[in-house]
Amino acid sequence: TETALKTLTGEPPVIIAHRGASGLYPEHTLKAYQVAIDQGADFIEPDLVMTKDGVLVANHDGYLSDTTSIADHEEFADRKSVRKTPLGDKEDWWSDDFTLAELKTLNAIQRVEGRPQDYNDQFRIATFDEIIDLVEENAAQGRKVGLHIEAKWPSNFSAAGLDMVDPILNTIEERGLVEAGIPIFIQCFEPDFLAKVAAKSDLTLVQNLVGPPYAALLGLDMKLEDIPTAGVGAHKAMILTPEGGTTDFVERAHALGKIVHVYTVRDDEPAEGFASAEEELKVLIEAGVDGIWTDYPETAVIVRKDY
Ligand code: G3P
Ligand code: CA
Repeated sequence: TETALKTLTGEPPVIIAHRGASGLYPEHTLKAYQVAIDQGADFIEPDLVMTKDGVLVANHDGYLSDTTSIADHEEFADRKSVRKTPLGDKEDWWSDDFTLAELKTLNAIQRVEGRPQDYNDQFRIATFDEIIDLVEENAAQGRKVGLHIEAKWPSNFSAAGLDMVDPILNTIEERGLVEAGIPIFIQCFEPDFLAKVAAKSDLTLVQNLVGPPYAALLGLDMKLEDIPTAGVGAHKAMILTPEGGTTDFVERAHALGKIVHVYTVRDDEPAEGFASAEEELKVLIEAGVDGIWTDYPETAVIVRKDY
């Protein structure tokens, strides 16, 4: 796995633009991804969900109200519905109740209030294919970045009769990404999804670990030694301590031959016990993490360079 990582992208830690440069532009938009690429990110991260007509689009949630302008669209007012979520019932608009064409009429918006809101009328939801187009355009200009692909809670979509394994693997295959040398990780919180992918492909897989205290609540409390994937996606609270130090998580994972990617560094929200994202990044790099998800890739690129 260490060699896999180095072959994939050179010396760790790789910098993964979390939903793109999502601190500056609406997350998961082609603009947020291009800015991340320009800032020197090694990977861009699309969280993928399904549309009603089975298209993979980039959105963090199955619901749309936090990241799109759907609440302003009268024509969709009666398309809200209540769904059960592990944190209780939620009434919202759900991506698999809308066709791609309908979703393309929405604006992608900045979810975090304190971040720039000026672009909330400029960008649309991006499809996985459009994100791949962007990666290929940049690779053609000599700027090769990888795709760190998260299937977002696929069991929700299989309930609606939509599978995510084949659309993701078929797209990677049809677009010839591996042959083109585009580094790829596939990540998910659901072990069953990753097991299905592992049965059909030898891509490098990352088992995301739910941050405390939700792991037990969601029944996703996994022991490191029981995780079959080459990589783990760890919540930073598993690695950083409120005293500004680190736990033995990375050491234990490396002893098991696993790579560790950690989420999420945010310049506007440093971890508890850390004065700044720069401090946090230094401690994470020192702890030997193999990849860092951040909303602000430029800061991580600078800290890594100076390290
Ligand atoms: O995928 C790694 C990290 O992004 C997981 O958390 O909620 O930001 O997708 P989330
Ligand atoms: Ca993610």
